[in-house]
Amino acid sequence: MDLIPAPRAAAENSPESPGGGPVVLGPRTTLWAGPGTGTAERWLRSHLGAALGLPLPPGPENGPEDGPAAVSLRLDAELPPEAYRLAVTAAGGVGIRGGDAAGVFWGAQTLRQLIGPDAFRRAPVRPGARYEIAAQVVEDAPRFGWRGLMLDVSRHFMPKDGVLRYLDLMAAHKLNVFHFHLTDDQGWRVEIKRHPKLTATGAWRSRTKSGHRASPLWEEKPHGGFYTQDDIREIVAYAAERHITVVPEIDMPGHSQAAIAAYPELGNTDVIDTASLGVWDTWGITENVLAPTDNTLRFYEGVFEEILELFPSTFIHVGGDECPKEQWRRSGTAKARLNELGLADEDELQAWFIAHFDRWLTARGRRLIGWDEILEGGLAPGAAVASWRGYRGGVTAARAGHDVVMCPEQHVYLDHRQDGGPDEPVPIGYVRTLRDVYRFEPVPAELTPEEARHVLGTQANLWTEVMDSPARVDYQAFPRLAAFAEVAWSALPAPAERDFADFERRMTTHYARLDALGVAYRPPTGPLPWQRRPGILGRPREGEPPQV
Ligand code: ACM
Repeated sequence: MDLIPAPRAAAENSPESPGGGPVVLGPRTTLWAGPGTGTAERWLRSHLGAALGLPLPPGPENGPEDGPAAVSLRLDAELPPEAYRLAVTAAGGVGIRGGDAAGVFWGAQTLRQLIGPDAFRRAPVRPGARYEIAAQVVEDAPRFGWRGLMLDVSRHFMPKDGVLRYLDLMAAHKLNVFHFHLTDDQGWRVEIKRHPKLTATGAWRSRTKSGHRASPLWEEKPHGGFYTQDDIREIVAYAAERHITVVPEIDMPGHSQAAIAAYPELGNTDVIDTASLGVWDTWGITENVLAPTDNTLRFYEGVFEEILELFPSTFIHVGGDECPKEQWRRSGTAKARLNELGLADEDELQAWFIAHFDRWLTARGRRLIGWDEILEGGLAPGAAVASWRGYRGGVTAARAGHDVVMCPEQHVYLDHRQDGGPDEPVPIGYVRTLRDVYRFEPVPAELTPEEARHVLGTQANLWTEVMDSPARVDYQAFPRLAAFAEVAWSALPAPAERDFADFERRMTTHYARLDALGVAYRPPTGPLPWQRRPGILGRPREGEPPQV
C-alpha cells in the first residue's frame, strides 16, 4: 500500500476470506455522502473523479444491489477529530468514517493513494479504466493538530494558481496549516484597501540579487506582484475546502522595508532619509525597521483590521524576528518613547511593540503567534511561539505555559540544501537530507509530558530568496516535505528507531504519485541537468557551520 504519511494501522484482508476479494471502481461506481461530509464528497468528484474519469454519481448508502462497489462517507462520533477509518470490502465497497469532516477528508486522501498514481493526475490517461483496490482496513489519526508549511511569497512572488497548487500538495500529504509569509523587506503581497501604496509601491522592486547575497550578480528587471483581497478570499476558501487553515503573517517591526518604501513616515525619519528607500533588492537583515510611534501602531491596526476580515484563523502571525535596534538607538523619537514608557532598553521597546498587538488581537478574539524573538521581554498568556532558532525558544515558551510550533531551522528549513554535492542549485546553509528530516523530532526531549502538551505541532518553512520559480520551490520542498508530513502525522518511534529504509521503499511508490502531480522534486540520484544551478553564487550564511 505504501501509504505516506504512514497510518496508525493497516491490514489487508486475505483474498480467500469471505468478502476478502478486491473492490473494483468503475464508471458505474456511486458515491453516498452522509451529513457533514461535503468537503470530501466535493473533492472526490472534482479531483479523484476527474483524474480517473469516474462520474461518481450519487447512489444509495449501500450501493446498487447488483452493481459495482460504492464509496460511502459518514461521520462517526466514536472517532476523535481528524481520525478516520477506511474499510474496503467486497460486500460494502469503500467506506470512510471520520471523527469529523476533516477526518473523512483525510480518509479520501488515503483512498487516492490506494488507487495508484493515476488518481493523482489532472485528467484521465486511461478513460473508462477500472481500478482494483485490495480489501483492507486502515485506521488512522494524526499525531499533531498543527502540521504546517510556511511559504515566503515576499522574496519571490508566487501567483495565486501556484499557491492553490501548494494547498493541493499539502492536502495530499495531510498537512493542515498554511503559514502565508505575506510581507518582508523585499515585497508587500496583500492588498490593504486603506493603504493602497503598500501594494502600488511596496509590491515591486526594481531588481533582484541573483543567488545568495554574496553573489555579484543581479537580475536587472522589476519583480513583484500581490494578491487582491478577492484572491485572498479565494485562497482561504480553497484551503478551507481542504481543511487547511491559512495563518497570515504580517512581519514587524523588522523585515518592514517594503512598507517603509511605500509610506516613509513608518520608518525612523529622524535617523535616515526614509523617503529615499526603495523596496529592498538584496537578501539578509536590514537596519531599516519601523519607528515605535503612535502613527505606526495606528497604521498597522488598520492593516490588521483588514487582515482579520480576510482570514478567519484564530492565530495571526506578527513576525517579530530579526529586528536590529541600531536605528532606535540613534533615534530621538525612539528614545523619547522609551523614557515615556520607563523601559530599560531597545529590546524592551520591541517587546512593547509586540505586546501592543498581542492585546489588540486578544481583544478581538484572536491569538498572536510570532517567531521566538517575541519571548524576549515577556508575552501575554495566550500568545504562541514559532521556535525557529533551534529548540531553545520552544523549550522556554512551553515551560512558561505558551503554546509552541516547532520549526527549528537546523531541521526543517527546506531552503537549506539537501545534499552536499556540487550540482545542488544555489546552496544555502546546512545540508539537511531526506533522512535528516525523517529523523526530526518536534517535541524537545527535555520537556515534561505536561510541558510537551504545549507543542501544538510542527512546521516546515520555505524561504524563497533563491527560489525564483515554482519548479525551484518544488525542488527544495520535495521529497523532504513527504518525510516531514510523516513526522507531523504519523506515530513514529524515537528518531534513532525510525525505519528510514522502509520510508525510502515507500517513497519509490510515492515518487510515481509526485510525477503524476507534476512535482519537480529532487530525484534520489541528484538533480536532473535542468535542475542544476551550481553553487558559484552561494555560500553559507554567516555564523553557520561549514557546508559538507
Ligand atoms: C526567520 O527565519 N527569520 C524566522
